Amino acid sequence: MRKKTKIAVVGIGLMGSQHLKAIKNSKKAVLHSIVDINEKSRVHAKKFKVPFYKNSSALIKHNKPDAVIVATPNQFHEKHTISFLNAKIPVLLEKPISSNIEKAKKIISSSKKNKTNLLIGYHRRHNAIATKVKNKIIEGKLGKIVSVNVMCWLYKNKEWFKEKWRIKKGGGPLGINLVHDIDLICYLLGPVVYVQAFSSNKIRKYKVEDTAIVNFIFKSGVLGTLSVSDTIVSPWSYELTAGENPAYPVTDQSAYYIGGTKSSIQFPNYKEWFNKNERSWWKKIYHQDASTRDSRYTLVNQIDHLCDVVEGKAKPKVTGNDGLQSLKIFAAIIKSSKTGKKIKV
Ligand SMILES: NC(=O)c1ccc[n+]([C@@H]2O[C@H](COP(=O)([O-])OP(=O)(O)OC[C@H]3O[C@@H](n4cnc5c(N)ncnc54)[C@H](O)[C@@H]3O)[C@@H](O)[C@H]2O)c1
Repeated sequence: MRKKTKIAVVGIGLMGSQHLKAIKNSKKAVLHSIVDINEKSRVHAKKFKVPFYKNSSALIKHNKPDAVIVATPNQFHEKHTISFLNAKIPVLLEKPISSNIEKAKKIISSSKKNKTNLLIGYHRRHNAIATKVKNKIIEGKLGKIVSVNVMCWLYKNKEWFKEKWRIKKGGGPLGINLVHDIDLICYLLGPVVYVQAFSSNKIRKYKVEDTAIVNFIFKSGVLGTLSVSDTIVSPWSYELTAGENPAYPVTDQSAYYIGGTKSSIQFPNYKEWFNKNERSWWKKIYHQDASTRDSRYTLVNQIDHLCDVVEGKAKPKVTGNDGLQSLKIFAAIIKSSKTGKKIKV
């Protein structure tokens, strides 16, 4: 029988606790230990009957795991990830790779220098529906892709903003939510070459944006638009439509619309739209549907993938360079949002 991969989780906040559940539900992994600066997280270590450490050096010194998940706030990603890579421990690092491009490059070089795998936690690439859409595109079922339209509208309550880093630079919906969408559209449609963005903090009035719209030009020539806000009550975001995370009550809506010359697809509530014979706006348009049932396994799929990478059975599906690319697009979006000008990525 295959030996289970022992995984430590660093930072047991909103995301770290999701990873604890995913490890529990994975057949390939077992929780090794928990690291958190906050004594409150000791309760999780007790619950899972694993050791608790107050910092990563204590873990590295006393009890090396097979892999770690770094789920600390963005500003600590570089420090924590590099300390594990230097100890030759593979890291699944939560998104975004870092809050800054130079730091992201240092993380990537450390992975190269130490010949130790680095995976970035853009978990949507592990979603069964995203895989189905990717395959449809590769098989040419949509014809030539013309355009993509992404919605990310949601409402974050007061509780969310008690963590002060969430109201500072990088902690807003562009950094927290949109980066997932950027990664997913790049995964599905290839690299982005230009962006143009407008952002606003008009509703919440924090230093960070609450709303933004972005235009994209992809290398392939595809044109895209994306709209994000954390102050709109609406069902049209990936979180509220994928059913991946039980924390978000799921709806039957979609958030992504990809249009091709033969058909178009909406998802996560998957529907592929097409004409049966002649393509025409005068003819009836049909749709084929697929269930989002398997979406709830997305985080477990990501853990299983981490185990496969540790065992040398797979290469990282989301690399440090993918994380860097998303960050560059993000930086171009922020730059453009200050002037409204089109920026090369
Ligand atoms: N993949 C996703 O969908 C997703 C969703 C939410 C957050 N995230 C990412 O996960 C990371 C954490 O976000 P969150 O919302 O869970 O944050 P959070 O504030 O809820 O939790 C962070 C945890 O890290 C701990 N911590 C802080 N400094 C530490 C240190 N020096 N050493 C050890 N532990 C430390 C805190 O005590 C806390 O328990 C961020 O990078 C965020 O972007 C990803």
